[in-house]
Amino acid sequence: MAAQYSGVIDLEKKIDEARQGEVLDAFDKNTDKKFYIESYGCSMNFSDSEVIASILNKEGFGGTKNFLDADLLLINTCSIRDNAEQRVRARLQQLKKVKETNSNALIGVMGCMAERLKKKLLEEEKIVDLVVGPDAYRELPQLVKTAEDGQKSVNVLLSREETYADISPIRLGGNGITAFISIMRGCDNMCSFCVVPFTRGRERSRDALSIVKEAEDLFNDGYREVTLLGQNVDSYHWEDKESDESINFADLLALVAQVNPKLRVRFSTSHPKDITEQVLDTMIQYDNICKSIHLPVQSGNSRILEKMNRGYTREWYMEKVDLIRKKIPECSLTADVITGFCSETEEEHQDTLSIMEYVKYDFAYMFKYSERPGTHAAKNFEDDVPEDVKSRRLDEIIALQHKQAKAINEHELGKVYEVLVEKASKRSEDELTGRSSQNKLIIFPKGNAKPGDYVNVKITDSTHATLKGEITG
Ligand code: 5AD
Ligand code: SF4
Repeated sequence: MAAQYSGVIDLEKKIDEARQGEVLDAFDKNTDKKFYIESYGCSMNFSDSEVIASILNKEGFGGTKNFLDADLLLINTCSIRDNAEQRVRARLQQLKKVKETNSNALIGVMGCMAERLKKKLLEEEKIVDLVVGPDAYRELPQLVKTAEDGQKSVNVLLSREETYADISPIRLGGNGITAFISIMRGCDNMCSFCVVPFTRGRERSRDALSIVKEAEDLFNDGYREVTLLGQNVDSYHWEDKESDESINFADLLALVAQVNPKLRVRFSTSHPKDITEQVLDTMIQYDNICKSIHLPVQSGNSRILEKMNRGYTREWYMEKVDLIRKKIPECSLTADVITGFCSETEEEHQDTLSIMEYVKYDFAYMFKYSERPGTHAAKNFEDDVPEDVKSRRLDEIIALQHKQAKAINEHELGKVYEVLVEKASKRSEDELTGRSSQNKLIIFPKGNAKPGDYVNVKITDSTHATLKGEITG
């Protein structure tokens, strides 16, 4: 089953669903060899695919959007929940068709599933030729050569240093206006349900100067928004060896915001235990840092949060929300929620509903707990909430989120937002879509505006899922 999404914006939902298995626009290049890449899961994977494209391009590979034309088919995978892995396995069965017409074509599995299953993947999925973990992409050309010689190749070594800082990503599948910049890799948090620390390794931060340089290059290429990506951006930390200066996440935000006032800056994901007042103050200080925070709550109950090893209680989370609301009243808040975690009772589930009522999220990603082999929870707790109970609780959470999102959106009528125009709307060439600082997707008649422009849009219509408006003066 696909991940459950609910929230304010239907289009956003569609985009996120597409992202479950998005064929990335590859660049055209007249080369003998062509690669095809498909990405699943989180934004970090999409960002990694752009690094992979760059590495392959240097090796003389061009890109193709049609897997039947490819010599190298790569699938960048996600292990976060079991259904993400099942989707990849089903897709591999379709991709193997390429071997009927081109027996030399190679199929590679990259990313989290490669890391989690390692060599086992070759036994389980016989059509796979390469297995490459998230820290081994530099080795890809070598691994391809080995596979071309007829040997299956695997590299799943995790690194404590690799950040791909010096690799200039090739932007794939974007709109030319918004881009991701990866600022760190891995995660040290060890939330008990989560496979990420095992698949992406230890946390490490990327050289701040290379991040600022990437933002500058993007701006000069016409991009107007960057999203700084990390599993836990608040623990970003980098020492400038030359100046002996230490740069934390708030410092980095300020540096990127200073690239140009016309470059919007977003970031994801914040951790409730780590987000600092300095980050909030920096958001206030710079108009171009977007007023939107993704603050995964996971559960509204302190016993469950402790079992999840999240490092905060219900009260702590609520105080963080109060602080954000006090300092930045216009800030939108979004979250991830897991329902049916090991031993969760009906009362504890009610605590999740009541914290959602307290916060009133603009948007939420909502999931049923899925046990992941090797995690602390899988080893130590029983996955004992029956499937039908998990489903019912999830339905309740989604219904509440929809109801609240509808009310929030009704409140937007008549308000005016500065919107960064991204592209033509899917429904009509005469309409454009863009986002407010709060990350709300807004559709409006195009007038004289074009992608990359900032325009003021007055909201004229809303459903629980969509905002529509018109450009004002
Ligand atoms: N089961 C369900 N959801 C999970 N997530 C992470 N691990 C699991 C799991 N085992 C969710 C969390 C996290 C988001 C990226 O995915 O909510 O914030
Ligand atoms: Fe997983 Fe927790 Fe790290 Fe997020 S912060 S990637 S949920 S371990």
